[in-house]
Amino acid sequence: PANRTSLWGGRFAGGPAEALARLSVSVQFDWRLAPYDIAGSRAHARVLAGAGLLDPDELGRMLAALDDLEAACASGAFRPTVDDEDVHTALERGLLERLGSLGGKLRAGRSRNDQVATDLRLYLRDHARGVAARLVELAEALVEQAERHVDTAAPGMTHLQHAQPVTFGHWLLAHVQPLLRDLERMRDWDERTAISPLGAGALAGSGLPLDPVAVAKELGFRTSFANSMDAVADRDFVAEFLFVTAMIGVHLSRLGEEVVLWTSQEFGWVELDDAFATGSSIMPQKKNADIAELARGKSGRLVGGLMSVLTMLKGLPMTYDRDMQEDKEPAFDAVDTLELLLPALAGMISTMTVRVDRLVASAPSGFSLATEVADWLVRRNVPFRDAHEITGKLVALCAVRDCALDEVSDADLAAVSEHLDPSVRDVLSVRSALAARITPGSTGPGPVADQLAAAADKLTGW
Ligand code: ARG
Repeated sequence: PANRTSLWGGRFAGGPAEALARLSVSVQFDWRLAPYDIAGSRAHARVLAGAGLLDPDELGRMLAALDDLEAACASGAFRPTVDDEDVHTALERGLLERLGSLGGKLRAGRSRNDQVATDLRLYLRDHARGVAARLVELAEALVEQAERHVDTAAPGMTHLQHAQPVTFGHWLLAHVQPLLRDLERMRDWDERTAISPLGAGALAGSGLPLDPVAVAKELGFRTSFANSMDAVADRDFVAEFLFVTAMIGVHLSRLGEEVVLWTSQEFGWVELDDAFATGSSIMPQKKNADIAELARGKSGRLVGGLMSVLTMLKGLPMTYDRDMQEDKEPAFDAVDTLELLLPALAGMISTMTVRVDRLVASAPSGFSLATEVADWLVRRNVPFRDAHEITGKLVALCAVRDCALDEVSDADLAAVSEHLDPSVRDVLSVRSALAARITPGSTGPGPVADQLAAAADKLTGW
């Protein structure tokens, strides 16, 4: 491995030990940064020329070689070899192969420390846009299903016990709101990440007359770093990206868990399209929600990625430390995971069939209209504390008689409380319970239609 010393051969007597080389190498995972590294090199070459450190002819040759190298990387004609430590060293080799000693001029005023921080910001900003687009598609699939079920009654739950009737459209939109917040989180994150570290050098900035702001603008950043030491030490943008992706993972897991429940024999609320369900190798009748289960399962690696980067960063002294090379795999894995998962979930949601009959039949069961009785009493000036007590007695009676709330006889109503009379039956329908919920954000068809329009609007504008 003699040529592994190429970046720092000067003061070293020999090459690194094989064990060090094997531990140190990152090119097998950081090679995907190549297009971003080349973009950074172009910007750096222009700034060197602006400072008079490359003449116009040298700049022209440098840019042509970078274009050629970029094409060779894209086609696979240029690949990293076992002797390339990381993406930066591999690309420098490619440049030297094309330009001879002129290729060595690009390193002036630049370090792998500011380079890698720049590359990773560029990569994540780019891919965050793709993840956001896939997130919008999933949210749109949920919105489209919700549109069909603005009026479909369902048994709303707390503690997985029947609580109060809701519309299934409202329920589906309850999964859209978290995704809208995730999109906003990504946007906020991008705002903070749009700062270029290039020009910070190893840690101290540069004594050469470089122009970090111009480089920042060329690379699509808002501006450049305020403190060169922070610029190479900061991985907040990785941790924060991983928080956003972990949060997304948790949201997808909760949606996945519900789809697993909904498609079970016991619920039977939803049937998945054949193309988005799996079968069993031994049980011919099986239809499984593997996509939903993988959504639930993959939240583990997304949360784990956040934990590993936070733990890696904790206690690192200023500025760059090699520990930080461990930031990339969790970040790349989060991107890969969501790019795989989101389209599968969107397809599963948009093609699933909702069993309206089963939902509607189940909506009033479990005495889910009991709160309507209590509210009816409150409207008749009974303090809620007493109303709750009276309604509890009514429910207990129904449990003994094995009947529904609206099946209690007039005599029994009167026996439970002097405040109850037969007109209470007017509020004992799912339809009236839903129709009564007209305040903003409630589950009634009116507010759900408003919520639907607002969500669709946000998504179209994204
Ligand atoms: N491959 C390193 C990383 O990913 C970047 C190189 C900086 N290395 C160094 N020894 N200064 O963090």
